[in-house]
Amino acid sequence: MSASCDLAIRGGTIVTAADRFRADIGVRDGRIVEISERVEGAAEEVDATGLLVLPGGIDAHVHLAQPTSDGTVMADDFETGTRSAAAGGNTTVLPFAMQIKGTSLRDCVTAYHRKAEGKCYTDVSFHLIVSDPTPQVLGQELPALVRDGYTSFKVFMTYDDLVLSDAELLEVFDVARREKALVMVHAEGHDAIKYMTRKLEEDGRTAPYYHAEAHAEIAEREATHRAISHAQLTDVPIVIVHVSGRDPMEQIQWARKRGLKVHAETCPQYIALTKDDLKGLNMDFEGAKYVCSPPPRDTDSQAAIWEGLRDGTFELFSSDHCPFYFQGAEGTGKDNPRARTSFKWVPNGIPGVETRLPILFSEGVSKGRISVERFVALTATNPARLYGLYPRKGAIAIGADADITLWDPDRRDTIRQEKLNHGSDYTPYEGMEITGWPVRTILRGRTVARDGQVEAEATGQYQSRGVSEAVA
Ligand code: URP
Ligand code: ZN
Ligand code: ZN
Ligand code: ZN
Repeated sequence: MSASCDLAIRGGTIVTAADRFRADIGVRDGRIVEISERVEGAAEEVDATGLLVLPGGIDAHVHLAQPTSDGTVMADDFETGTRSAAAGGNTTVLPFAMQIKGTSLRDCVTAYHRKAEGKCYTDVSFHLIVSDPTPQVLGQELPALVRDGYTSFKVFMTYDDLVLSDAELLEVFDVARREKALVMVHAEGHDAIKYMTRKLEEDGRTAPYYHAEAHAEIAEREATHRAISHAQLTDVPIVIVHVSGRDPMEQIQWARKRGLKVHAETCPQYIALTKDDLKGLNMDFEGAKYVCSPPPRDTDSQAAIWEGLRDGTFELFSSDHCPFYFQGAEGTGKDNPRARTSFKWVPNGIPGVETRLPILFSEGVSKGRISVERFVALTATNPARLYGLYPRKGAIAIGADADITLWDPDRRDTIRQEKLNHGSDYTPYEGMEITGWPVRTILRGRTVARDGQVEAEATGQYQSRGVSEAVA
């Protein structure tokens, strides 16, 4: 008998964003061609008995191989970053192609393609970061790039190298409306953070912990509201990314009640860490391991984030993987001589692409806070819908790419740096007990990772994206 499918996945419980059911999956030429009680002969058989069969994770917010301006070095390139992503149950990641001020956005995009080419273990697409919205960028480069399938871009309301003025934000939003692109906003008020930083430094409060005080939730709330106002004025949908707590969340809910097109993302650090982690041991420099922006808040904020994950305030749960070394070679890590003088020089960002899915599953599904369907929506289906990849990605359906993660809901393990594939020399989640792990990651019908180890070639492909469902 000639096998009609290349691969059959048998006996598992398929979970989508809407429902769960027992069925076999048949795969041919990298796509799902059959979902039925019994798929007949296939060249390769995978027994998924006792496992959940999920759409492969889509991590819609990761930073890989981004240059820095201070001599520190990002700990993941596309090889290690996507290796880590695949081991953690992901089949697609969306890193950023970051414009450096004074340079062409198109040239930056070309440079990131070169960095990624042939190196990826997951499929990859790029969001743009617009840091220099010159007339050339607004009038020519951005519109052309959106038409070429780069249908989302991020803007920053803080960071010296990236911050846009309100006038610039409005201009970028205007282009997004015209070109049907989705804007992602890093909403923290730059002047408020600078004011807080100066005050803290004047008082000699320079340890990593004070990063969390400088990046106050009030500054995040204010910027969130300001971004929403600009979006309303320009009539454009936006995503507020990496929302840390109750205050900014309430601004998003306020906007939604008024019918404004505001979407929201949150991240593992806001459910698994608090600002007390930045204290390290007795306010020592260990706290730098947890420095990211916005910073983790407190347990009340964590409770608020869970409410938002349950009630749909958050549609996206991404890692914001932004990996640095803690030590690193001379001057390249978070622990560098300048960072020792003030929290303001500690590179912002933490690794998390490999631990995103286990943390949300364990803390959310295993502990009964969210359903497994919601888990799928937050980590795969909604990112695909919002970023123009659906239904090719983020779905278990006939015709979809066979991007599938087999998940053991009962497997218990502990997060340990030595088991992770990322480039960083630490994980902020060291010692965290997890129930539920990805046991096999299948990319377009081929197994790429098993039990935390990548076992295939780097066959990840670039994905050109369509218009976001938030815009269409
Ligand atoms: O601290 C963070 N999150 N660094 C990554 C860059 C960003 O703002 O997303
Ligand atoms: Zn950001
Ligand atoms: Zn939405
Ligand atoms: Zn980020």
